[in-house]
Amino acid sequence: MSILSLISSYVVVNLRLLLPQCLQVAYKLISIKYFVLFLRIKSYNYCFHFLICPVINQGDEVILFDPSYETYETCIRLAGGVPVYVALDPPYWSLDPNKLAKSFTARTKAIVLNSPHNPTGKVFTKDELEIIAGACRTWDILVVTDEVYEHITFDGERHTSVATFPGMQKRTIITSSLSKSFSVTGWRIGWAICPAYFASAIKNIHVKITDSAPAPFQEAALTALRSSPEYFDALRQVSVMPKGSFFLFMELPRTCTLSDVDFVEELIKQAGVVAVPGCVFFHTNSSKLEDLSLTAISYHRRYIRFAFCKSEETLAAASQKLTELIDGSGGLKLF
Ligand SMILES: Cc1ncc(COP(=O)(O)O)c(C=O)c1O
Repeated sequence: MSILSLISSYVVVNLRLLLPQCLQVAYKLISIKYFVLFLRIKSYNYCFHFLICPVINQGDEVILFDPSYETYETCIRLAGGVPVYVALDPPYWSLDPNKLAKSFTARTKAIVLNSPHNPTGKVFTKDELEIIAGACRTWDILVVTDEVYEHITFDGERHTSVATFPGMQKRTIITSSLSKSFSVTGWRIGWAICPAYFASAIKNIHVKITDSAPAPFQEAALTALRSSPEYFDALRQVSVMPKGSFFLFMELPRTCTLSDVDFVEELIKQAGVVAVPGCVFFHTNSSKLEDLSLTAISYHRRYIRFAFCKSEETLAAASQKLTELIDGSGGLKLF
């Protein structure tokens, strides 16, 4: 492996020496000529913005999966790009290769891939990753990954970076951060690993705006990344429904006539428990809605997202409050 350089303008010595090894192990990348970037302030969102700016020109199209984490679209638009959504199919949010194939045009420049996935908890399967990798090779485009939940997978599921597929290292920009794996969402420390030719462009933008991450946080990041395998194993010792991340993306009961927003409002009023209405994660362009069946359109208003990255006490209290709302027939009294 050869890491050419760390592109922050100031990187503490230990980090410069040891971070590449940590990341190489984490991503199982064998021979890399990759750069690593540390950012301060709002790590991931800034990180994504710095990455997407040098990658796309005005009018270039970037493929996103729907539903998705809400930040990507804004960053793409700010950089002059055009988001093109490919709907994942409920209930398992599977990738339909035909839908993906149809979304490519001569202007397609990149795909954004977030796995494990916010909001659904989906972990893209090896077959799906191969389809994405194949499309990237065929169309000669890039994939920008968001791997912030890389260590949070359940039921024997393991995260695989698409960068490990044949021919993908040179066309993948991996992004991740400390936030989720180490429960430090406020620290805003993240990184990108990408081929050298992108790194210098990213550096040009990054250095002018945020410069390097604060030195004490860099040391802390190194300590975190060198955690024992047992630490990472412990993150996976939870028995829950999603395959990864820390979200439950739940469909409302068929008998419920409330929309996702109304349901969440009632949940807050009656149980004091907060969820996020699913509609905020769906971005399908209205101009493209005619491509979708009526059922497909309506599911955009029938999901809510719970986050379970809370203490045992908080989860037990929420569970107790929800249980109190269950009526004699096992239904919720909310609606
Ligand atoms: C998919 C995804 N990417 C990125 C982030 C932001 O990460 P950070 O806390 O490092 O800014 C989040 C946080 O919710 C997320 O869900």
